[in-house]
Amino acid sequence: MPDTTPEAATAGIDTSRPHPARMYDYFIGGKNNFAADRETAEKMLVAAPGARTGARENRAFLGRAVRYLVEEAGIRQFLDIGTGLPTNNSVHEVAQAIDPAARVVYVDNDPLVLAHAQALLRSSAAGRTAYIQADLRDPAAILADPVVRETLDFSQPVALMVVAVLHFIPDEDNPAEILATLLDALPSGSYLVASHSTAEHAPRAMSAGVSAYRSGGVTLRLRDSDEFADIALTGLRVVPPGVVPVSEWRPESNGPHPSAAEVATYGAVGYKP
Ligand SMILES: C[S@@+](CC[C@H](N)C(=O)[O-])C[C@H]1O[C@@H](n2cnc3c(N)ncnc32)[C@H](O)[C@@H]1O
Repeated sequence: MPDTTPEAATAGIDTSRPHPARMYDYFIGGKNNFAADRETAEKMLVAAPGARTGARENRAFLGRAVRYLVEEAGIRQFLDIGTGLPTNNSVHEVAQAIDPAARVVYVDNDPLVLAHAQALLRSSAAGRTAYIQADLRDPAAILADPVVRETLDFSQPVALMVVAVLHFIPDEDNPAEILATLLDALPSGSYLVASHSTAEHAPRAMSAGVSAYRSGGVTLRLRDSDEFADIALTGLRVVPPGVVPVSEWRPESNGPHPSAAEVATYGAVGYKP
């Protein structure tokens, strides 16, 4: 019988150190995480008890943004960088439920995501999904990758998704330039979907959270809304309601939403004119 345990799927992967993809998976209730991830995630929850809410609200934002792009903006192609581990609301699931012909390329630099990528590749027959292991900090390599070129048609609009990944890119890696390189390669009519952790509404809790991540060897660079907008939205037309906590981006219910301090994550969608 094939060994389908997470341990078997991750042979050769260092599970003794926490990893952001697996910590996020733990926050949103997934099963692809290990003791080291859970330990650091629990430290984060002590420091910032809203972290789980923030992660879940972020995931829901991702789903609403994809639905908006397919239903209202006519987008059929997605380049999703910093995909995370397969869970609910994957980009192709949301997009292909509306148009089975939608195409998605997933990109992540975590070998564990690669080990589980089969689940991301269950495309509808009419559409396509593909996965490449690559680093957001090398946008030229992503753009030149033959799988990306074969799956997406760069003469047609593409939605670039960088959801909950920019805060892993320190200033010295120049996230604004990375995004400019990626967006330059997309035709007018394309979109950017981005979200970013912030300490703006809960400085003390989030700075303790950053320390909890650092204790596990993971560096986070939180940014305020202006910094986020400078990096992600320069040259784009920001889709209403603008740069808001992810829970406030076109929410589907009128019920009460978690506070900005709990969510601690900005989201925005930009249109490339
Ligand atoms: C918090 S998860 C977000 C998952 C998904 N985008 C979402 O919002 O639900 C961040 C993901 O970004 C990936 N990541 C972090 N740094 C990256 C980099 N430099 N290049 C590519 N992926 C990266 C991690 O491996 C992880 O899977």
